[in-house]
Parts: sequence; C-alpha cells; structure tokens
Amino acid sequence: MSRGPGLVRPRRLRSSAPVRRLVAETRLHPAELVLPLFVVEGAEQVRPIGSMPGVVQHTRDSLRAAALEAARAGVGGVMLFGVPARKDETGSGACDPEGVLSVAVRDVVAEVGHDLVVMADLCLDEFTDHGHCGVLDAAGRVDNDATLAHYARMAVVLAEAGAAMVGPSGMMDGQVRAVRTALDDAGHHDVAVLAYAAKYASAFYGPFREAVDSSLTGDRATYQQDPANGEEALREVALDVAEGADLVMVKPATAYLDLVRRVSETVSVPVAAYQVSGEYAMIEAAAANGWIDRDRAILESLTCIRRAGAGVILTYWAGEVARWLRAV
Ligand code: PBG
Repeated sequence: MSRGPGLVRPRRLRSSAPVRRLVAETRLHPAELVLPLFVVEGAEQVRPIGSMPGVVQHTRDSLRAAALEAARAGVGGVMLFGVPARKDETGSGACDPEGVLSVAVRDVVAEVGHDLVVMADLCLDEFTDHGHCGVLDAAGRVDNDATLAHYARMAVVLAEAGAAMVGPSGMMDGQVRAVRTALDDAGHHDVAVLAYAAKYASAFYGPFREAVDSSLTGDRATYQQDPANGEEALREVALDVAEGADLVMVKPATAYLDLVRRVSETVSVPVAAYQVSGEYAMIEAAAANGWIDRDRAILESLTCIRRAGAGVILTYWAGEVARWLRAV
C-alpha cells in the first residue's frame, strides 16, 4: 500500500536562511529607490527636521554632497524639493529660472551628471504664501485651469535646468497633459513625467509640512483624493496615462497598498509608490522609543510596498537602504 506524499510541509522552504533567500518572491534593489531631498534658498547651515530624524533641509553645498552620496550608493534617482526664501500669492519662485529649485537641479546635475535620475517636484505649494498647490481665484478657491498655466511654465523651467523627470504633484485636473504639451512644445521630448496620479489628502504628510516650511492652513481635500475611495484612483490613473504620464504614482504607500496592487495590475507603465514623511516618522519614532526594531521595520515596509506591485519606491531611507543592500 502506497504511503502517499505525506503531510504537506510549507515550512521546508522556510527552514534556513539560504532556502528562504532562494525562494524569496520579492527583492529590493537600490536602483528602484528614489531619495527625496529638500534644499532651502540662501541657507548657510544644514537644518535638521524635527519630525523626521535623520532628514535635513539642505544648503546648496550639502545638497550636492547628498546627491553624490546617493549616486555612490546606487540609488536610482533623487526627487528635489525647493524651499524659497520668499513665498507669494502665485508662487512665482516656482517658475523662476534662478529660483531655488532650478538652481538645485542645475547643481545636482553638475555634481552627479546623469548617474542617477534627477527628478524635480512640480508643484506650487512650497512657493505660495497660502500654501496651496495652485493659484487661487477671487473667491479664494484653488483655480484648476489657471494653475495649469503655471505648471506648464514650471515644467519648461525645470527641464531647462536639466531635470530628467518632473513629478507633477498638485492633483489638478489635466496637469499631465499641460506639462507634457509644454515640454514637447519647448523641444523637451526626452523629459519624462512621473505623475502623482493617485495622491490622497493624507494626514501622513504632516512632517513634510515642516520639511518645506509650509504655510498651509486648512487642507487639500478639494484636489487631493478622499482616502475612502479606490475606484476613483483607477480613474485618475487612467486619465494620467492617457494624458501622457510615463510613470504613475500612488501616495502614500503603506495605507494604500491595495491601490498599489490594483494600479500595477491595471496599467502597463511603471508604478511608483511614495513612502511619505509620516510613514518615515512613525517608524523612526517607535524605534527611538525602543518599541520596534528599526532596521527590520524599514526593510519590511519597503519589501511589502515592492511586493504590492511598486516598481519604484520613493523613500527617505533610500540612501541608507541602498548601502545595506549593497553590503549583503
Ligand atoms: C506637494 C507634496 C507633498 C508631498 C510631496 N509633494 C505635500 C502635500 O501634498 O501636502 C508629501 C511628501 C511627504 O509627506 O513625504 N508638493
């Protein structure tokens, strides 16, 4: 009489580190990590960001050094955010070729060339005195179509500074088309658009507001998505792909992994996810209290974002994790 195959034992494939490594379905690689960096106009000293231990507001010089370090670690790209010395009603610094962000793009390209992908955030919120992502109409509402004209100009300014990729993050309707058209009209066919396609009105952006000295009062609920909605994200993503997005992003990451999965199964362009400031701060804060194992929590969080379907991950730990990955 045959004894049959016996008990099915999935634990066999977990029995040792080499076996687990052999059958791992998901691997992280430095090349798919993108490091967001903040630079402050006129800053003479690096300033720590209290709610993001380990992340700083850079000077021009320290930004160059940080970009070089990221390139050496094998990071895939950097996403630059500029904090201007002066903010105004229309965020005019955003479209100024001598403004903080354009200067930062030129500096970083001069430092690392195109050893990694130099990306720039394309939004007005760091530059407006009211802190919204667009310009306001007479009634004080964010004026979608008037904002698109600013985004179009900003895209060309950033491309001329040398950005290889721009990340429109303001969630205005038609922003990808406006940016793509402006880039093409100016001859910048090769500059790619990483669309913040499904960006939610999230409390997890809290620490970022400190990072960019945000002046926002109120919220962004009339343009960023409602966390209650998933189908809507698929509509947003489809629109951005139709408008010419080269990559689409879901943001934040951890609380929105269902959408990372659904979006990655729906579109054929690469999908990015942004592990945002609050996700970073929560792990750092818990680890600082001795409540979780910091390094394991970081690797687990990134592995799970990758497993959900993100091919590109923006994370404030990109440099550090890239070094870990290279060491193993
Ligand atoms: C807007 C922008 C924000 C973030 C990236 N781009 C803030 C917001 O939408 O309120 C948040 C990133 C983070 O929290 O790490 N330009």
